[in-house]
Amino acid sequence: NAIYFAGLNGVLPGVPVDFATLEARAAAALPPATLTYLQGGCGDEHTQRHNADAFAHWGMTPRMMVDCSRRDLSVELFGMTLPTPLFMSPVGINGICTQDGHGDLAAARAAAITGVPLCQSTLSNDPLEDVAAQLGETPGFFQLYTPKNDALTESLVCRAEAAGYKAIVVTLDTWVTGWRPRDLNAANFPQLRGHVLANYFSDPVFRGLLDRTPEEDKAAAVQQWSGVFGKVLTWADMPWLRSLTKLPLVLKGICHPDDARRAIDAGADAIYCSNHGGRQANGGIAAIDMLPAVVAASGRTPVLFDSGIRSGTDMVKALALGATAVGVGRPYAYGLALGGAEGAAHVLKCLLAEADLLMAVNGYPTIADVRAAGAERQSR
Ligand code: FNR
Repeated sequence: NAIYFAGLNGVLPGVPVDFATLEARAAAALPPATLTYLQGGCGDEHTQRHNADAFAHWGMTPRMMVDCSRRDLSVELFGMTLPTPLFMSPVGINGICTQDGHGDLAAARAAAITGVPLCQSTLSNDPLEDVAAQLGETPGFFQLYTPKNDALTESLVCRAEAAGYKAIVVTLDTWVTGWRPRDLNAANFPQLRGHVLANYFSDPVFRGLLDRTPEEDKAAAVQQWSGVFGKVLTWADMPWLRSLTKLPLVLKGICHPDDARRAIDAGADAIYCSNHGGRQANGGIAAIDMLPAVVAASGRTPVLFDSGIRSGTDMVKALALGATAVGVGRPYAYGLALGGAEGAAHVLKCLLAEADLLMAVNGYPTIADVRAAGAERQSR
């Protein structure tokens, strides 16, 4: 409401309240290499566009005469009560979003300001411990890219546990990087690579693989990282993955109901339905269209969702289709780019404000009511 009435009174916030304007402002403000990396997706980006557009095919029906004067957006996840069902998806390049190069710390401060959990990527400019220290009371989750070296994986997970992260989110869809023409045309990867290795460079196991420290020879350390990135995981690795931690284990990138069932049978505590925002594989079904089947297959196991959420309305639709909590990637990254921690926090607050208002006018006082109301496919 604070945002809404400030806007009505002509006091427009520095960071726009809607995604289209946000992206346009970020496009005008960001260095080309950064914009290319954030905005781009796989192939001709059909899946990426479809992720967002497909929300239009789902519609919700308002209910009247319900007292919605107070709304409760809280949800239960991993034994915690989260104040809202929103979280920040892992974005591996947060560091380049802010001029000081510490976008990961800024994202964590946005989490602290808003109470919206941050899922911290393995690929960060700041070590995971420093990020955790900025989270305040807000929970963090650690996103794991499994390197080929199992001892290194174990070390990263141990560090995440010691730093107080509340879940380990293993991303399954990125053992290699997808075909991203924008980045390839701009020869972006070589220049971006050196930015995202703080968790490796600070890791005792990784350092043990090097002849000279990353401080002495960064090029060799980057080369070593390229060699270890991206273990090919199969279901046979599930017992090992499960044994890595007592924290809740989340599998990110699950899109098929059979995979959801298999993950749960093998001990996953949550399913994360996502197609990586259309960055990894083109030609896929829109993520939101895959969510209902994944939810149905997951039974009582929580389902996290991201890919294509651009508004509070999209958030509510994903929750209506059964997501336990929903994430955004690019929206908060653009907020970081335009206004640092405050900018990202503003984007998150706007998403929540719109979701809250929609629940108020639609007659859904709680997230359980949203879910009970559901959403229907509409022809156009
Ligand atoms: C990502 N994503 C991602 N996912 C992950 O598991 N680890 C990572 O390091 C990254 N890095 C990353 C960088 C950038 C620039 C983007 C845009 C995305 C994927 C991310 O977690 C999420 O799945 C998508 O961003 C969701 O789609 P939207 O919200 O961007 O449409």
